[in-house]
Amino acid sequence: MTLLGVNVDHIATVRNARGGSEPEPVYAALIAEQNGADSIVCHLREDRRHITDRDVKLLRQVVQSGLQLEMALNEEIIKVALEVKPAEVMIVPERREEQTTEDGFDAVKNADALKKAAERFKEAGIGLSVFVNAAMDQVEAAHKAGADIVELHTGPYSHAEGADAIDKALDAIETAAHCAWELGLDVHAGHGLNYHNVERLLRQVPVEKVNIGHSIVSRAVFTGLENAVRDMKNIVASAG
Ligand code: PXP
Repeated sequence: MTLLGVNVDHIATVRNARGGSEPEPVYAALIAEQNGADSIVCHLREDRRHITDRDVKLLRQVVQSGLQLEMALNEEIIKVALEVKPAEVMIVPERREEQTTEDGFDAVKNADALKKAAERFKEAGIGLSVFVNAAMDQVEAAHKAGADIVELHTGPYSHAEGADAIDKALDAIETAAHCAWELGLDVHAGHGLNYHNVERLLRQVPVEKVNIGHSIVSRAVFTGLENAVRDMKNIVASAG
């Protein structure tokens, strides 16, 4: 059965819009866990635009299902990860001007840096996931560097328009997932997944976990976070 990781970044985005203390991402993480989240994800960006160091530390203390820290391969953030020791880190590329993570981490181009970081995470007992585009060379490079998990970028699928483009994007995810499974990696998927497109993905490619943030937080504005997480969990659990 496919598991659901809930990303709480955008609870922090709303909080930071006013510079105050609400809504509290830690509270959101606990509600998400109570309503079916199998893990909690947060992204400590170099510019701290949503999640802060304080959030990561508190989340690490209170989250029981497993905290996944999404991060760039940046020495300052690596040090935070090694101190906080989340269950897993997920390596993503980061560009200051982007609205959200736009592309997979290039595990081929950054193979040496990834391998060095992988050794440090392994020594600290932290699992390593690498967010990559759905391409076999990227999956193989992540595996070679020491990743335990690849998270396949579902943005091209989520944004595809028309039957042919959707099929093509799904086929690429399926091929990359099979390559990862053959190498013994776990396969996660994320980016742009929502209440309408996640079922189709999971029917074709039943990955171990999907990580979802924006659509759950958006729905929560109208239905409450409890219902938003529960509804997504039901779709994911019955499709995957
Ligand atoms: N996975 C990765 C690597 C991401 O960067 C993001 C966005 O923070 C997500 C999953 C969740 O994407 P979304 O917010 O579109 O559900």
